[in-house]
Amino acid sequence: MATSVFLLFLPLIFFSSSSSSTVDRSSRASSLSVEHADDVLTSRNGIFSAGFFPVGDNAYCFAVWFSEPDSEGNRTIVWMANRDQPVNGRKSELSVLKSGNVIITDAGRFTVWSTDTVSESPQLLTKDMKLVSSRSQWNFSSGFYKLYFGDDNVLRLQYGGPHISGYWPKPWLMSWEAGRSIYNSSRIAFLDPWGYFSSSDNFNFTSADYGERVQRRLKLDYDGNIRLYSRNHRMEKWTVSWQAMSEPCMIHGTCGPNSICSHVPHSGRKCSCLQGFKIRDRTDWSLGCVPEFNLTCTTNETGFLKLSHVEFYGSDFGFFPNYTIGIV
Ligand SMILES: *[C@@H]1O[C@H](CO)[C@@H](O)[C@H](O)[C@H]1NC(C)=O
Ligand SMILES: *[C@@H]1O[C@H](CO)[C@@H](O)[C@H](O)[C@H]1NC(C)=O
Ligand SMILES: *[C@@H]1O[C@H](CO)[C@@H](O)[C@H](O)[C@H]1NC(C)=O
Ligand SMILES: *[C@@H]1O[C@H](CO)[C@@H](O)[C@H](O)[C@H]1NC(C)=O
Ligand SMILES: *[C@@H]1O[C@H](CO)[C@@H](O)[C@H](O)[C@H]1NC(C)=O
Ligand SMILES: *[C@@H]1O[C@H](CO)[C@@H](O)[C@H](O)[C@H]1NC(C)=O
Ligand SMILES: *[C@@H]1O[C@H](CO)[C@@H](O)[C@H](O)[C@H]1NC(C)=O
Repeated sequence: MATSVFLLFLPLIFFSSSSSSTVDRSSRASSLSVEHADDVLTSRNGIFSAGFFPVGDNAYCFAVWFSEPDSEGNRTIVWMANRDQPVNGRKSELSVLKSGNVIITDAGRFTVWSTDTVSESPQLLTKDMKLVSSRSQWNFSSGFYKLYFGDDNVLRLQYGGPHISGYWPKPWLMSWEAGRSIYNSSRIAFLDPWGYFSSSDNFNFTSADYGERVQRRLKLDYDGNIRLYSRNHRMEKWTVSWQAMSEPCMIHGTCGPNSICSHVPHSGRKCSCLQGFKIRDRTDWSLGCVPEFNLTCTTNETGFLKLSHVEFYGSDFGFFPNYTIGIV
């Protein structure tokens, strides 16, 4: 019974592996306890494991990960159930109810997550699913970025920080100029085991290492880029074989509010604060900068500041390529 439920949430549509991935219950018990580290489900082919994963002090999330650790011995998380509501390290459980519903209860008291399934038949993936980035490399809570099919059937990346804005495909292009089709409403995307990705809006790509690999995964990283990772051997380091954005500064919100993102060869980008602002949190640029002044409503103390060689990407008043500015 649990099989269909886990399969449903496991790979989403963007995950592929050379072999099929049915999930089998390792024990006959109808619940898993956070207190038993060996309460882990393993898929029949051994590739995936699921169980409670520590995300902080006495905080656990029910997650699915690759059974084989990476070269540093860390687990590669594929999916998390209660990412925004971790449970207590004692008495929390994942239970499969007779109705088919799967629930996670915090410290044996209230339900923090459920599949809302009411029968044993598997649910289908819906068009309304979205992929949401993590908050940071080590914080798996919902982050600022999402990958989803828009109302116009186009697969998009969107920043949802203090302001909401799309940055992929390029915001100033019409869908057809970006090579996307708005006419196929099936809203399906898939990655095949060899590294070919195809989406119903006509977007497609082939990974740099196209061909046989042991494992591949497509991930919306916390920095707002989608990357395809692959590894040849299970204990190997994951390498990037494709990414959506080659220039990090084109990712909206990457340096947070009131900041400037500058291109830097090799390392990618450099963040700095606008004049009169200071960084909010030195360890996290995505929070941006805060004013060092107190905003007043006195007209003689406010005005506009001219910034050279800077663009407000995606929010231009106008875009004039190869344009001669008239000399007045
Ligand atoms: C492995 O995970 C720990 C935290 O769980 C982290 O501190 C460490 O940097 C990770 N190692 C690598 C190489 O990512
Ligand atoms: C992770 O990020 C969320 C959202 O910003 C925050 O509420 C939470 O405290 C963070 N968790 C840790 C362990 O830092
Ligand atoms: C829509 O996209 C899907 C997936 O790419 C494809 O199988 C289907 O044939 C497309 N439909 C039309 C009408 O083009
Ligand atoms: C893949 O993308 C290219 C460029 O947009 C397009 O010409 C081609 O038709 C696409 N292929 C498929 C199978 O959709
Ligand atoms: C802003 O206002 C606060 C409280 O009134 C004051 O303590 C602070 O010194 C002011 N800062 C500046 C830069 O004027
Ligand atoms: C702005 O005007 C107020 C009142 O007219 C005056 O007290 C203040 O000094 C002026 N500030 C500046 C920066 O000129
Ligand atoms: C820019 O416009 C001029 C005049 O319209 C044209 O001769 C030139 O080829 C254009 N340059 C580019 C790079 O498009």
